[in-house]
Amino acid sequence: MHSYEKLLLANKAWAREQKVIDPEFFDRLSSQQAPEFLWIGCSDSRVPADKITGTDPGEIFVHRNIANLVVSADINLLSVLQYAVEVLKVKHIIVCGHYGCGGVKAAMSPTYYGIINQWIKNIKDIYQANRAEVDSKPTEEERVNRLVELNVIEQVTNVARTSIVQKAWAERNGPQLHGWVYGLNNGLINPICEMDAGSLNDDLYTFKNL
Ligand code: CO
Repeated sequence: MHSYEKLLLANKAWAREQKVIDPEFFDRLSSQQAPEFLWIGCSDSRVPADKITGTDPGEIFVHRNIANLVVSADINLLSVLQYAVEVLKVKHIIVCGHYGCGGVKAAMSPTYYGIINQWIKNIKDIYQANRAEVDSKPTEEERVNRLVELNVIEQVTNVARTSIVQKAWAERNGPQLHGWVYGLNNGLINPICEMDAGSLNDDLYTFKNL
């Protein structure tokens, strides 16, 4: 059997089992979705949003990219964000990085990775701005992991800086933003920052006429 055929077989078994556990499951989900959470995570195959949070289909709206970046010119991310905030009206936006992130590691190295370099330049900028603190860590692992945390904090701030979130904050006092870091070695999520509606105390990035 080819490896991909195992996936199709497992899918059949899952669908069958799901119907036994909850006969209305597919009828309910095929007519609508009402997730409470938007997840912005790393594409890394070891960090599946639903599995590590024990959530079911229908509960989390997901966007993933290399190193969980929120880039203001990324039409893909912005479309997901707008839909989640304005149509689904999610209550929480979670940016979840993970310790040992390959994208963050790559950003700290002088190696040329092709087009990926363009993407991870965003992390290089965060490294540059926090170089003294990151480089003061004694091991490479600790330096990478500190930058992983700083990257998550920066991306949460980037979410807050979008007009989409600022408009929602003005209109409905939400969503709340969360920065988390997942540990590949223990399966645990470390919550590292939070932002409530209106908490972006930065005149330069705050719109007054929304
Ligand atoms: Co990663």
